[in-house]
Amino acid sequence: MEKKSFYITTPIYYVNDIPHIGHAYTTIACDVMSRYMRMKGCDVRFLTGTDEHGQKVQAAAEAKGMTPQELVDKIHVNFRELWKVLNISNDDFIRTTEDRHIRAVQAMFKKLMDQGDIYKGNYEGWYCVPCETYVPESGMGSNRTCPDCGRPLITMKEESYFFRASKYVPQLIAHYEKNLQGVMPRIRYNEIMSFLRGEVRDQSVSRTTLKWGIPIPGDEKHVVYVWFDALINYATAVGYLDSPEMFQKYWPAVRHMVGKDIIRFHCVIWPLMLLALGVNVPVSVIAHGWWTVDGEKMSKSKGNVVDPFKMAELYGADAFRYFLLREVPFGNDGDFSETALAGRINSDLANDLGNLLNRTLQMIVNYSDGVVPDGNIGGASGDPLDLELRASGESAVALVDQAMTTFSYDEALKQIWGFIARGNKYIDETMPWKLNKEGQTERLRSVLHTLYEVLRLSALLVAPYIPESAEKIWRQLGCAGTPLSERLDDFRWGGGAGTRVDKAEVLFPRIDLEQWKKDRAPQAKEEQQVVEHEAEIDIGGFRAVEMRVAQVVRVEEIPRSKKLYKLEVDLGYERRTICSGIKNFFKPEELEGRRIVMVTNLKPTKLCGVESNGMILAASAGEGESERVALIVPDAEIPLGSRVH
Ligand code: MSP
Repeated sequence: MEKKSFYITTPIYYVNDIPHIGHAYTTIACDVMSRYMRMKGCDVRFLTGTDEHGQKVQAAAEAKGMTPQELVDKIHVNFRELWKVLNISNDDFIRTTEDRHIRAVQAMFKKLMDQGDIYKGNYEGWYCVPCETYVPESGMGSNRTCPDCGRPLITMKEESYFFRASKYVPQLIAHYEKNLQGVMPRIRYNEIMSFLRGEVRDQSVSRTTLKWGIPIPGDEKHVVYVWFDALINYATAVGYLDSPEMFQKYWPAVRHMVGKDIIRFHCVIWPLMLLALGVNVPVSVIAHGWWTVDGEKMSKSKGNVVDPFKMAELYGADAFRYFLLREVPFGNDGDFSETALAGRINSDLANDLGNLLNRTLQMIVNYSDGVVPDGNIGGASGDPLDLELRASGESAVALVDQAMTTFSYDEALKQIWGFIARGNKYIDETMPWKLNKEGQTERLRSVLHTLYEVLRLSALLVAPYIPESAEKIWRQLGCAGTPLSERLDDFRWGGGAGTRVDKAEVLFPRIDLEQWKKDRAPQAKEEQQVVEHEAEIDIGGFRAVEMRVAQVVRVEEIPRSKKLYKLEVDLGYERRTICSGIKNFFKPEELEGRRIVMVTNLKPTKLCGVESNGMILAASAGEGESERVALIVPDAEIPLGSRVH
């Protein structure tokens, strides 16, 4: 059967910018989608590249005493290098100075001119003479000054070619009315529709004031306006001019991923050009939000531009990739902080995923000589816990797929991590070490096999996001090939028996936060705390914790313990003994008589020889010497034993 095509593009980046987190974000999002769609069996084409013409490049080259071509040949490499470091799996990298692109732009221009959709007129606008550039009204400084150099702008008029954009607007509106996924998310769709229903003017598509651009065939004092030139890259790269067969294959499946700032070009101008050319408009343009840094807009002058090379070096490409897509719902703006990144590394990657892998492999080594046992884990006679875990895996696969069709990366990750958390909980529930001690061999075999399957499926699900780590997991599980060359739909629960696992290796070392704060203090703001999140739970998970109001009746020291108090608490309907590690923060008289909130359905446990029957709730901040603790107390009179919801 022929594979379904899937063509995805990043914007082409201005070559004179230093790559930053914004560029990394779009490209990582496209990479994850490409990898996922490949695992779904699609024929994927993933394009990125650089936008190399324009006034700024020309000026920078002059300042350096180079030709513009020499300059772009040198600096476009920054992007290529970054994509290597971030493990980007693009199939092509296009540069607008390449011959294939120049020819495609000229051909399109000529076609539109021949059919009367490009005509000659006069362009008038606000112009900065020293920068030799037009400045849109929306981008001006105060008192009509240039946003770059601050000097006053003048009005300027020049001969220009215009694209008859207005002619195709009704057709585009009709298209979007039928294709709601044409612009995603919905908020951007609405924005575009209201723009289209207003006045869309014909677009100036050439300049005589600019030299570093693609000359217009037959009228070479004009060069093609940079945006008209740049947008065409998407078509050039899949053979618009040179390979009709390739174009036929990929173009009908094209999706453009862009930042919210450039949607008018992608959702209005570009589709209007395509309609004029008689070519399909994109299936979807997906717009993401913008990153701020520690709550502030990123800018060179503030010196807070996040360098993706540095992040990958410090934390690893996978952790950076994971964080960017997990932290913020795709489409929303987000705030980047290294502190939050460190928190997620420790909680989600080291704790949840790393521990599941480590514990499982260790137990397979300890209790099954390193070979995955053949347990009864899938059949109807299976243990309900095993079957539930399997069902949770199957539902994760379906929900991830649903999330990916709407580019909801964070949602997909929540589903995957929910499944990983279920796996960790299963270890606590089944207690394989106990099964081993009690000689319950049959059950132990099923549990170990089930856990192995949880990991095998997890490795597949995380592979698009953290490809390097997924491969490591795959190797440690003793699987052949790589998870990325697997087809997701081919996964069958219950495989893997008889496989020899490799020795457990730490995937994500926990960050020592004390040391990290010292090392990264100037970069990471002092007052921010590192937040380590727990896996998401549903309301049932929360309800399962029974919390009630109680009163502390008596406080005693426990001679063998430096930290614990023995508390007698009154719940109204009964009295209980609790051990609580708050000795360093309260004197007994500060506690006696106080109303507190406690968890009442914790399994009893013995601490320093005293049986503890519950836990009182308190908040804590800081670490070591500077740790502080505050009790959670009811703020109004309420009977003892009242439930806390
Ligand atoms: N060259 C044009 C695109 C032409 S596509 C035919 C361009 N280049 S750019 O380098 O300035 O920006 C590329 C992308 O980076 C845009 O999608 C933009 O939204 C994104 N970002 C730039 N800064 C960003 C953040 N601070 N946060 C997230 N993305 C941001 O525009």
